[in-house]
Amino acid sequence: MTSSPADTPDTSLDQTPAAASEHLHIAVVGAGKAGTAVARSLLDAGYRVSLSASGDPQALALMAGIITPGAEPKWTRDAVADTDLVILALPLHRLHLVDPALLEGKVVVDAMNYWPPVDGDIPGFAAKDLGSSEVVQEMLPGAAVVKTFNHTGYSTLEPDRRPAGHPERLGLAVAGNQQDAVALVSAVVHRIGYDPVPVASLAGTLFLQPGGSAFGARLTAAQLKELALVAVPAI
Ligand SMILES: NC(=O)c1ccc[n+]([C@@H]2O[C@H](COP(=O)([O-])OP(=O)(O)OC[C@H]3O[C@@H](n4cnc5c(N)ncnc54)[C@H](OP(=O)(O)O)[C@@H]3O)[C@@H](O)[C@H]2O)c1
Repeated sequence: MTSSPADTPDTSLDQTPAAASEHLHIAVVGAGKAGTAVARSLLDAGYRVSLSASGDPQALALMAGIITPGAEPKWTRDAVADTDLVILALPLHRLHLVDPALLEGKVVVDAMNYWPPVDGDIPGFAAKDLGSSEVVQEMLPGAAVVKTFNHTGYSTLEPDRRPAGHPERLGLAVAGNQQDAVALVSAVVHRIGYDPVPVASLAGTLFLQPGGSAFGARLTAAQLKELALVAVPAI
């Protein structure tokens, strides 16, 4: 991975999703509402998917066979071991239970949000001027953290998917400090049925999280880009 930190988020990086790797093996950590919706979308797009929850994969297998058929239930350690991309979809207050060493050198999607009613008061995340994915990146220094999927609802992720060029196709922001990681995840987002809106920094992504202008807003890529351009300079 090459590092290209940007002080000013660049929303003009319209990557060509053709670089997308249809052969990626992707791990989804967290098999709840968000994780299973993401996993099904990835499976539909043809990706190989490993899925983990907090415990024994045998306990997950029955549920996974019914609601994410095709996903491979594993211990988190095994799920992430041989994957190219890891998607974190567990409650944020449980993230400290995932060993950062497992994620060294990997592209890691942060699909999580900080919800105090669920997560409690976590001092690092409670800071109002720092995006939650910036804190996640600090917790996972060896990973290239990319923020996406967090600003959409689990119940709309699948029904809102549309093929490229469809007039109703929506956008998903894809924010990260490392351009190649953003490009990789943008390609995946494109492939599952959304127009990626790349944002070249985690700084300034408050607009994507709870209380932000784009959170839960079901927007086209053009609308999302407008919000990004308004939100980012103010950060
Ligand atoms: N719900 C949404 O619409 C939505 C949309 C976007 C983003 N998000 C975010 O996604 C995250 C998950 O939300 P959710 O609604 O999907 O929660 P959820 O339905 O409660 O599911 C949480 C999942 O995380 C697993 N988990 C807990 N601790 C774990 C650990 N240490 N290692 C691996 N997996 C672990 C749980 O497994 P066990 O059951 O085995 O404990 C469960 O499968 C949250 O940060 C949320 O803000 C949610």
